[in-house]
Formats: sequence, structure tokens, C-alpha cells
Amino acid sequence: MSVIILGIETSCDETSSSVLVDGAELRSNIISSQIEVHQKFGGVVPEVASRKHLENINSVIIESLEKAEVSLKDITAVAVTYGPGLVGALLVGVAAAKALSYALDIPLIGVNHLEGHISANFLAQPGLEFPLICLVVSGGHSDIVYLPNRGEYQLLGRTRDDAAGEAFDKVARAMGLGYPGGPLIDNLARQGNSQAVKFPRAFLEEGSLDFSFSGLKSAVLNYLNRSKMLNEEINRADLAASFQRAVVEVLVDKTISAARRTGVKTIITAGGVAANGELRNLLLEKAGEAGCKVFFPPLNLCTDNAAMIACAGYYKYLRGDFAPLSLNAIPGLTL
Ligand code: KG4
Ligand code: ZN
Repeated sequence: MSVIILGIETSCDETSSSVLVDGAELRSNIISSQIEVHQKFGGVVPEVASRKHLENINSVIIESLEKAEVSLKDITAVAVTYGPGLVGALLVGVAAAKALSYALDIPLIGVNHLEGHISANFLAQPGLEFPLICLVVSGGHSDIVYLPNRGEYQLLGRTRDDAAGEAFDKVARAMGLGYPGGPLIDNLARQGNSQAVKFPRAFLEEGSLDFSFSGLKSAVLNYLNRSKMLNEEINRADLAASFQRAVVEVLVDKTISAARRTGVKTIITAGGVAANGELRNLLLEKAGEAGCKVFFPPLNLCTDNAAMIACAGYYKYLRGDFAPLSLNAIPGLTL
């Protein structure tokens, strides 16, 4: 009998539901984005996000079932993100999943959002072999994770201040580009010279696999302020390209160091920033030089979606790792 997982994701500003059969056959992955609603505020407003999730959750779940051509009685288990994320947003998904689990008498599976992002790799490449090094780069996290086996995560490095995606978003906002900043900077940078402006790279202490992006962010803000004060024209594409290069060089350098140190030959990537063109190019190049293979999830599975949650849920289902109906949202959940 097939294992059919219904995945639900509501941790930030996407309401998403997905149907995944036997861990590999993605039947549907419906994503209702709230980006337009939050754009006018320049970032996600938590209360608005929860309200929008509440308005959308039922229709998104129904659409995912219809597109997958399955009915509720066909579902084997329901997997839901229960953290990390915005508490009011998480609670909407968790409540919906608990209601389905109780009403249909099927297992409830709680998924860590970061484990979801990492699992997007297994959807695209079910044959990936452990051990792996994963660079997790999203709006809230910049982590280097060692995976000795499936479902086991050891944190080797993390950001000490801003996450990589957060730095992209804040710099884009200061440049008046809009929200979310990552894709906008990625596009603008394609016409720019990444060597035009010299920005600092924070490598931290010798051997550290941690990141710090707040100094770089301040350097960009200072550059913008100085240009404004002096009434100097700036080349926005050069600025975007130079900032992006400074972020990407540090991400790539530390990821390769982590692979070298652990002797791991396969690198995977996860989270919204893994969609970045410059990161993809430089990591491919440097991983090749280090004798490592590197995999990126397809672009649509890098940013938040429920397919990755269903995939993580599938492997938890196989392990019998179920949650009680008392499952609660945990905004600060770690891997
Ligand atoms: O993983 P995600 O969808 O949500 C979180 O869990 O945070 O990541 C969103 C982040 C945002 O900061 C967004 O600006 C960034 O990923 N992002 C990108 C790109 N696409 C999305 N950053 C750089 N380049 C991109 N192409
Ligand atoms: Zn995410």
C-alpha cells in the first residue's frame, strides 16, 4: 500500500499544502503567497500573516487534494511544521493538522521547518547517500549542518547575528528595491560588477564555521548614506553585485571547510537563499576544486513550501516518529 502524506506549512508568509506519495511522487504542492500583502510594510507583519493563513488554509488544503486526485480518506498521515517560525502563523497549520489527524484517525507528524528545507533535497534526489554537509540559508537561519545519517543533525556553524536572507532583505530595503530582497538583488547583480565596491568579509576566528552578516549590512548602509550626503551617483547593480559576492564568498568558503574537516564528499543546500545564482555558481566551482559533489533543490522547493514538509514527514512516518494531539507550535525550535 502506498504511503500518502499530506504536508502543511504555515511558518511565515506562505500558506502551503502538498500531497506526496511514497516519498518521491509529488502529486501537488499548492503555495498561496502573502508577499503582496506584506510588501507595503517592507517585511512580514506577524498578525497579518496569521489572519491570512486562517483565511486560506482550508481552500489551500482542498486544492492540494483535488490537484493530487486523492480524497481525505486516502491520506496515510498528516505532517505539519510546528517550528521554528512565527507563533501565530505556525498555530494555524498545527491546528488544521491536528483536526485532520483526529477526524480521520491518522498519525500526526510534527516537522521542524529546517528539517523540511533540508528534505527538499531528498525530493529531488531520493538516492542521496549519507554522510552529507548541508548549508541552510533562509530568512531566519544561516547554518552549516552535518548529517551523519538520515534524521540526525549536528550543527557545525550558525550565524551570530543576521541570517543571510535577512541581510539580503535589509540591504534591498535600504536600496529601495522592495521585499523580499533576495531575488531582487540576485537579478540586479547580474548586470553589475562584483569587484566594484570593496566590502568586508567576516571570517571570524581561525577555524570558526560561524557567520556574521551585520557588519557587512552596516558597511552597505554606510556606503549608501555617504553617497547620499556627498550627492554621488551610485551604480546600484555594482552595489548589489558587490554585496552579494561578499555574502556568497563567506558562505561558500565555510561550507567547503566543513566538508574538508568532516571528510564529507557530498554537499547539499537548503532555504530561500539557496536559490541565489551567484551562490550556486561559486559553490559548484569551489566544491569541484575540493573534489565534492554539490546538489541544489529545484528553485521552487528552495523557498517555503509544503512538499518539503511532506517529504520530511514521510521519513518520520517510516521511523514511526509520531506526535501526540497535544502538539504545540514552538517558535524557537532548533534542529
Ligand atoms: O526559506 P525561506 O523561503 O523562508 C524562511 O524560512 O526564512 O527564505 C526566504 C529568504 C528571504 O530572506 C529571501 O530574500 C531569500 O530567502 N531569497 C533569496 C533568493 N530567493 C529568496 N536570497 C538570495 N537570492 C535569491 N535568489
Ligand atoms: Zn523557510
